[in-house]
Amino acid sequence: MTLEEKATLLVGSNQGVLAGGDPSEAVYDLPSTARIYDNKMSVGGSTYGFPHLGITNIVMADGPAGLRLATTRPDKAGEFYCTAYPVGTALASTWNTDLLHSIGTAMGEEAEAYGVDVILAPALNLHRNPLCGRNFEYYSEDPLVSGKMAAAMVDGIQSRGVGTSIKHFAANSQETNRKDNDVILSQRALRELYLKGFEITVRESHPWTVMSSYNRINGIWTQEDPALLTTILRDEWGFDGIVLTDCTARRNTAAEVSAGNDLMMPGHKSQIREIVEKVRSGELPEADVDKCVRRMLEVIVRTGTFRGRRATDAPDLQAHKSVSRQAAGEGMVLLKNEGGALPLKGVDQIDLYGNTSYKFIAGGTGSGQVNAAYVRSLKDGLHDAGFRLNAYLENLYGRHLDLHEARYAGFRASMVNTRPIAAELELSRSDAFQHAAEGDVAIITIGRNAGESRDRKIPDDFNLTAAETDLIRNVCDAYHVAGKKVIVILNISGVIETASWKAWPDAILLAWQLGQEGGDVVADALTGDVNPSGKLPMTFPMQYFDHPSSYNFPYDFNGPPSFGSTMSVTGRVEPLVKDVDFTLYEEGIYVGYRYFSSFGKEVSYPFGYGLSYTDFAYSKATVRKTADGFVASVTVTNTGRVAGKETVQLYVSAPAGGLEKPDRELRAFAKTALLQPGQSETLTLPVDAYTLASFNEASSAWETAPGTYRFLFGASVEDIRCSADTRVPKLLKWPVHDVMAPVQPIHELTRR
Ligand code: BGC
Repeated sequence: MTLEEKATLLVGSNQGVLAGGDPSEAVYDLPSTARIYDNKMSVGGSTYGFPHLGITNIVMADGPAGLRLATTRPDKAGEFYCTAYPVGTALASTWNTDLLHSIGTAMGEEAEAYGVDVILAPALNLHRNPLCGRNFEYYSEDPLVSGKMAAAMVDGIQSRGVGTSIKHFAANSQETNRKDNDVILSQRALRELYLKGFEITVRESHPWTVMSSYNRINGIWTQEDPALLTTILRDEWGFDGIVLTDCTARRNTAAEVSAGNDLMMPGHKSQIREIVEKVRSGELPEADVDKCVRRMLEVIVRTGTFRGRRATDAPDLQAHKSVSRQAAGEGMVLLKNEGGALPLKGVDQIDLYGNTSYKFIAGGTGSGQVNAAYVRSLKDGLHDAGFRLNAYLENLYGRHLDLHEARYAGFRASMVNTRPIAAELELSRSDAFQHAAEGDVAIITIGRNAGESRDRKIPDDFNLTAAETDLIRNVCDAYHVAGKKVIVILNISGVIETASWKAWPDAILLAWQLGQEGGDVVADALTGDVNPSGKLPMTFPMQYFDHPSSYNFPYDFNGPPSFGSTMSVTGRVEPLVKDVDFTLYEEGIYVGYRYFSSFGKEVSYPFGYGLSYTDFAYSKATVRKTADGFVASVTVTNTGRVAGKETVQLYVSAPAGGLEKPDRELRAFAKTALLQPGQSETLTLPVDAYTLASFNEASSAWETAPGTYRFLFGASVEDIRCSADTRVPKLLKWPVHDVMAPVQPIHELTRR
C-alpha cells in the first residue's frame, strides 16, 4: 500500500456527512449495501475500501439497545425497522448473562441482515452518579456486573460473525462537557472500577474493537494515551482488535496513531493529510502507521462485507420480538408489594393515570435510540390482557398527549436534545376521589427520559415534579379511603428519588425502559404471567446528595448554599458550559454500594435489591479451594406458592490490615432457573484469587492479602442470607505497569 492508502485506511470515510458537510465528499467507494446507511441519522460510521487491493469497507452502526438505522432508503421501497430491546440498565437488572447472550445473537442477526459489520455496543461505563444522561445505556455502578453483562453481549453478537465496539474507553461517566472533560482520579479507582468492566470483557470475550472515549484521564486524551491503549489494553489484557475514536473533532492524529488508536472516526480528510505529512517529516514513525494498518486488515478480513455476505434486508423481527420480550420480563424490579397487592386479583376495571401509561418510553435518546416499528404502551398491554380501562381517564390523557404532540410536532429527538417529557396532567384531588369509586385498582406510571449530550437535573427529574407528587398522593388517598390499591410503575431511564413517597402506594414496579414490548411485559407482571426477578444494578439513595460523587459532578447548584462549603474542586457550572474542564473523582473507590455499605449510610433501595411474588430460602453455603482460587456454592429453595427465579449475589469481605477496602464487594453472581414451589437448585459461583485482589498503588500490583475472607451470599448487598469463610495463606501479587497516575495525589487536590 502507498503511504496515502495506509493513512486513508486509518481515517473514517464519513467526511462531510457526519460533520454536516457536503455528502459528495464522503464515502466514495462503498458497496451499495453499505451506502444505503450513509445517512446522517443512521450510520455509526464506515471506513474507506480499496477495491484494487481487495480491501473492503467496515460498516458500523449503533448501538446498545438495538441497531440504529434509518427506516427508509433512497434506493429501495419500503420501511426497514430494527428491534428495540430493553436498555442496558434494564438488561443488567436481569443479572442473567444467558439473556444478554441471546439479545446479542439477535442483534448480530439483525446486523447481518442489514449489512452491518460492527455494532457500536455494548456501552459499559460505570454509573458513577445517578444524573449521567447516558446511564440508561450503561449497566451498573459495579464493574463486575458491567463486565459480565458486556462480555455476554459481545459473545452473542460476535457469534454471528459481526463485530462489537465496547465503549467508551474509559471513565466516560458524565455528559456535561464530555468532549473536554479531564477525569482526575487515582490509579486504584481507575483500575478497580473504571477499567475493570473493560478488562473482564476483553479477557473473556475478545471484542473486535474498542471505542476510546472523548474525555481525558489525568490530563491525557484517552485517544492519545499509549499507556491506556497499548500498555494496559494490549500488553496487559491481550486485546488484539482495533481501537477507534468516538465521533470526535480532530485531535492530534499522529499522537493517536502512535498511542495505538487505529481508526479516527468519523474521519476528516485533513487527518489523512496529517498522517502523510508527519510520516514524511519524520515526526510519526511509519512503523506506527503500519501497526495500525495491520490491525485494521486483521479486523477487515473478519467482516461480513469482506466475506461477501449479502444483506437480505429481512431480519427475523418476529423471532427477535420474543427475545426482546423475554429479556424485558426479567429486567423489571419489584420494589414494593405490600399486602400482596400484585399480581392483581379480581380486577376488572383499571383506572390508569400518568401520561406515560398511554405513551410508554422504549429507550433513551441519542445514539442509543432505536427506530422500532412500534412501542407497546401500558394501555395497549392492559387492554390486550383483557382489562377494562377507565374511559374518562383514557380520553383525558389521550387529548392531553395529542395537544403535546401537536405542540412539539417539529421537534426531533436528536443527538443533543432530549425529547421533553409531557408535563403531567393536572388532576385535582376531587378528580382522584371521583374516579376512586369506579375502578378496582389505580395504576400510575411515572416516566423519565434522558440521552446523549446532557446530564439530568435534580428538580423535576431526579426528584419528582410537584404535579407527580400530588398525583401519587391524591390517588393514594382517594383509593385507600375506598379500600382500593394503588400501583406505581416507573418507566424511567435512571435512578430517581423514592424515599419521600414510597410509603404511599401499595406496590411499586420499576420497569425501566423495556424496548418496544414494554407495555405488554409490564401487563404480564401485573397479571402474574411473569414473576419479576430483576434486581437493582445500582443503589437508590435516600436523596441525591447522599452519593459522594454528587459533590464532584458538574452541576449548576445556584442553590442550597450549604453545599458550597463541602464542594470540592469542580461543580458550580451550568451543564453544557465549556469551562468545566475537569472532574475530580474524589470519592475514589467508594462508588455506589461500596460507599453506602462501608459507611453505614441509609439508602432507599440497596444495590442488588428486588422482590418476587414468591420467597426463597438459602442453605448449605460452602466455599472450597481450587487450583486458582475458590468455588462457592449455595442451595436456593423456592418456599413460596408460585414459580420464580432468584439471583444470588456473592459479596466478599476481605481481611483487615493492608490496604483499606470497602466493607464488601461483589465477586460473583448467579441466577437460578425458574424454580417451581418447593424446588431447589444449587448454584456454584467460581471466584479466582485474582478476582479477590485490590490494586496497590505503592507496589503497582494487584494484591490478594493473606487472611480470612468471608463469602457472603446475599439477596441484596444488605440482605445477606448466609456465609462461609476461607483463608488465603500468603500474599498473592500480580504486578502491572505503573501508568496513568494523576499529576498530583488526589488528596492534595481536595478541599474537604
Ligand atoms: C457516541 C457514541 C456513538 C457515536 C456514533 C457518539 O456521539 O458517543 O456512543 O457510537 O456517536 O454514533
